[in-house]
Amino acid sequence: MHTTTPVSFNLAAELDAALKHAATAAALDEADTFSPEVRPADPRHGDFQANGVLPYAKAHKQNPRAVAEALLAALPAELRDRYEVAIAGPGFINFRARPAVLLDWLLHYDSARKLRAGAASYHGGERTLVDYSSPNTAKQLHVGHIRSMVIGETICRLLEFCGAEVIRDNHIGDWGTQFGKLIWGYKNRLDENALAQDPLEELERLYKVADEAAKTQPAVLDAARAELVKLQQGDPENLRLWNEINRISSTAFHRIYEQLDIRFDHELGESFYNDKLPRIYDEMQSCGLATESQGALVVFHPEHPRFAKQPFIIRKSDGASNYATTDLATMLYRTEHFAADSIIILTDTRQNDHFEQLWLTTQKWYAKKGYRLPKFEHLSFGSILGHDGRALKTRTGDPVRLQSLLDEAVERAFALVTEKSPELPEADRRHIAETVGVSAVRYADLSQNRSSDYVFDWDKLLSFDGNTAPYLLYAVTRIHSIFRKLGLDPYTATGGENGRSTADTATAATGDGGNSAAGGSMATATEEESANAPATAAATSADTAHAAPTPPETEHELALARKLLQFPAVLQATTAQFRPHFLCTYLFELAGSFSSFYAADKVLSDEPATRARRLLLCTRTLLLLETGLKLLGLRLLTRM
Ligand code: ARG
Repeated sequence: MHTTTPVSFNLAAELDAALKHAATAAALDEADTFSPEVRPADPRHGDFQANGVLPYAKAHKQNPRAVAEALLAALPAELRDRYEVAIAGPGFINFRARPAVLLDWLLHYDSARKLRAGAASYHGGERTLVDYSSPNTAKQLHVGHIRSMVIGETICRLLEFCGAEVIRDNHIGDWGTQFGKLIWGYKNRLDENALAQDPLEELERLYKVADEAAKTQPAVLDAARAELVKLQQGDPENLRLWNEINRISSTAFHRIYEQLDIRFDHELGESFYNDKLPRIYDEMQSCGLATESQGALVVFHPEHPRFAKQPFIIRKSDGASNYATTDLATMLYRTEHFAADSIIILTDTRQNDHFEQLWLTTQKWYAKKGYRLPKFEHLSFGSILGHDGRALKTRTGDPVRLQSLLDEAVERAFALVTEKSPELPEADRRHIAETVGVSAVRYADLSQNRSSDYVFDWDKLLSFDGNTAPYLLYAVTRIHSIFRKLGLDPYTATGGENGRSTADTATAATGDGGNSAAGGSMATATEEESANAPATAAATSADTAHAAPTPPETEHELALARKLLQFPAVLQATTAQFRPHFLCTYLFELAGSFSSFYAADKVLSDEPATRARRLLLCTRTLLLLETGLKLLGLRLLTRM
């Protein structure tokens, strides 16, 4: 029943290529300058729209409608069979895929494996290093830290899904002047009981105590400085304390990484680069980039409006290295050792200047040395605000700890789940609450444009209505329950390749398969159910054998099918612009199209072909929703 001709994954890209071809075939002036710019269209006009004719016609002083007509005439007949094509307005070209094209796509892309194969051309062959989370040691993680973690992890998953080789690096801030005070505090003010109770909390307290004391007592300041010098000179006792402090921090960080399903390939903190700094001073000077200024070693960028005057300091006047020195060494290590084609660093917007200076410096330095320049992106994000429009704080005015925020999310989700499904055993409700609570916080962050600030709102993010994790997780469980009621396997109900390939989605998206068990006891229960039910398997294959699905027909079937086919273009745009909220909006709309379809069209039609095509729409909606949510780092549920 499958077509033998290859089915394009991204129809927008297919149309783009066809129009470029047509430009040459129609012998347009400077045809190679024509960029068709095919995008998903307003559904009232078509599935896709080419917007590139107007700018081309303007640049070449031609009539845009005439250009559009020439292009249409040059499109291959085969393409005209597959799409309704129309010229609209001053020179837009609209395409509407015929129902048979929709059916071909839906039949072909029947598993996560096939979707990945389709997307592999987006970033295939690229090696990308992503530096995210990267907190400083000896401090608690606060709510603001979640942005780098969840946006960074989603970007890793998206790039991997689109064919890139991804290296996840946690660039921990484990070195610096704070260790003088920390070690002094540890040696002089340690509360053993507090350390045993909550080690990271105690470290944070020790730092504050030492910092206060150093402000008022010069002797303490001197002592702290002396501890730092001893550490830098390799004093064994201070090195031991430094290690101990990092170990404590790391344990606390990893508890949260586990809860958020984040696993790094490397944790090369700032200290890792200590012995690589002298080369930076050497090369910056021998390249003529760095100059001495008031005893410090600095880089100016005369061509830049601000950085002509505001220097990038790479060695302080006391001879010490700093954040900039380390980041230059880090850049070099990532290009030389990891041979990264592309480097992505996530931090909040406060570091924009630093990374702009780092990148300006790197480009000049690499050009002088003849090093291969990677692509570089500093992805910055806004702040998480309270209802007062200021950074989210606790009632006592302290920053909100990430761990307590996640704990609260799970508690609140537990209350909601208990209200919704009081009949479920408590262990199941706890499991669902863990997934719903953590996902809700995560999704609330991802669904916002990453460059903007947003207001943290418990009621909104835990709501079962709207663009939220609870709504989408629930939409997924609803499709599962449709198949459960029919006694059909949700992934093979229409004779797809898979069942197995769903686990493949999980493996693919998380990079380790950790998520395949993410549904936990409940997902397992469902899998067992279907595995132990030969009747189900028989029903499935009988179904498939007797009725091949026909192309979508009704208004709601067509709308849903068209929405499903937008996935490739959305995936591409999301990954290219590193904006997870594009994918969130799409999944939300997809769930909406499914709801309308399900309310309007009876899936269990008596007519076998109708029933087969409606089941096909159900199973593909499930596949895309689950694939998308896993890319966003969510765990999935099959019931709730
Ligand atoms: N530790 C830094 C901070 O907490 C972020 C590090 C980002 N990565 C880097 N290579 N500079 O602000």
